[in-house]
Amino acid sequence: MLRIWIPDLARNDEGKKEIPGQVRKDEMTKDISDQIKNDRDAQFYFGGILMKSILVTGGAGYIGSHVIRLLRKNGFHPVVYDNLSGGFKDFVSSFDFIEGDIGDFDKVMFVLKKYDIQCVMNFASFIAVGESVQNPLKYYENNVAKTLTLFKAMLQSNIKQFIFSSSAAVYGNPAVVPILEESPMKPESPYGKTKYSIEEVLKDLTVSDSFHAMSLRYFNAAGADESGQIGESHVPETHLIPLVIRAVLDDSYTVTIYGTDYDTPDGTCIRDYIHVNDLGEAHILALKKLIETNQSDVFNLGNGKGFSVKEVIESVRRVTGRDFKIQEGERRKGDPAILVASSNKVKLQLQWQPHYTHIDSIVATAWKWESQQKRKGY
Ligand SMILES: NC(=O)c1ccc[n+]([C@@H]2O[C@H](COP(=O)([O-])OP(=O)(O)OC[C@H]3O[C@@H](n4cnc5c(N)ncnc54)[C@H](O)[C@@H]3O)[C@@H](O)[C@H]2O)c1
Repeated sequence: MLRIWIPDLARNDEGKKEIPGQVRKDEMTKDISDQIKNDRDAQFYFGGILMKSILVTGGAGYIGSHVIRLLRKNGFHPVVYDNLSGGFKDFVSSFDFIEGDIGDFDKVMFVLKKYDIQCVMNFASFIAVGESVQNPLKYYENNVAKTLTLFKAMLQSNIKQFIFSSSAAVYGNPAVVPILEESPMKPESPYGKTKYSIEEVLKDLTVSDSFHAMSLRYFNAAGADESGQIGESHVPETHLIPLVIRAVLDDSYTVTIYGTDYDTPDGTCIRDYIHVNDLGEAHILALKKLIETNQSDVFNLGNGKGFSVKEVIESVRRVTGRDFKIQEGERRKGDPAILVASSNKVKLQLQWQPHYTHIDSIVATAWKWESQQKRKGY
């Protein structure tokens, strides 16, 4: 079996001597990927410590497929488990991938044992707020009931570290922005309630079973990897940036602004967009903290800055240099005027810093992905 040593990046950055046998930082990515191709049972060491594998459920989806690349870059061994209900096999072609459902207890048990999993990162979930209002049981079954089955398999396998994709939807319509982690949780949609329910279960499991969990509450994940190889691809797509780009690429499509009379400077809703790789970096930091300290915690993951719908539309015009059709519509029920995260806690406690702080830099990566991909989410 191959043993791969991945240097401690902090130590190398300080210019200290490397330990013989380690892969040099500047050769790391190529070297590791070459070796992984030849040895699927490779063991991974980071800073001299053997890294066990991380099970990434929902890893073939938009956010998960970015995080697995960052996991690998950081010396972890991601194993993807996904039922492909919303994910894509080609996003995970160079990774260990098992097609399966998190509600399949026996299969999850088998995978946890086979790959000697240390921690589970769970992205597997249905994600469309509107659909959850129309069909709440579909959401409670997948996002709650099946996640409980995953927990049962973890506990039976004595795996007690968990990273959870929660959502800003747990806050509902907040009274105060920027939103702090301590803000009251009053989810409005069934989707938001499923995320809230799992956070509550996790709190109880930390007490009853010494479970250790990080709940990461994402604001609006956006953009794509700079490679242009992976990106946002939801079917159907409901997120603003890909829909505006659709209007650029498809003359017959008109993008709708839902409400222009909100109490905001230009009358349109303001949201917090976080680049998907910045979001991914926060997962790596949270994972390292969890492994190191075994302490459960909750973090907002947002840029801490808001952009209005009209500002996003203007950004797409600037980045693409093209014009497209827009129309103004009525407000949608339940859309708060402003949803912006306080990102102070993640910056202070995990030393996280976003690299994509302006909306144009996020839109540019989304444009690169959307303009060259064949598969459309609409
Ligand atoms: N995209 C966002 O802006 C955003 C915001 C807040 C929270 N989140 C959360 O982040 C996570 C990932 O979101 P995304 O945008 O990448 O969505 P996505 O649909 O692209 O990815 C979800 C993945 O989970 C898989 N999946 C769903 N149910 C499953 C099951 N029962 N068993 C196995 N696999 C299953 C799907 O096939 C898909 O690959 C979700 O939990 C979502 O609720 C996303």
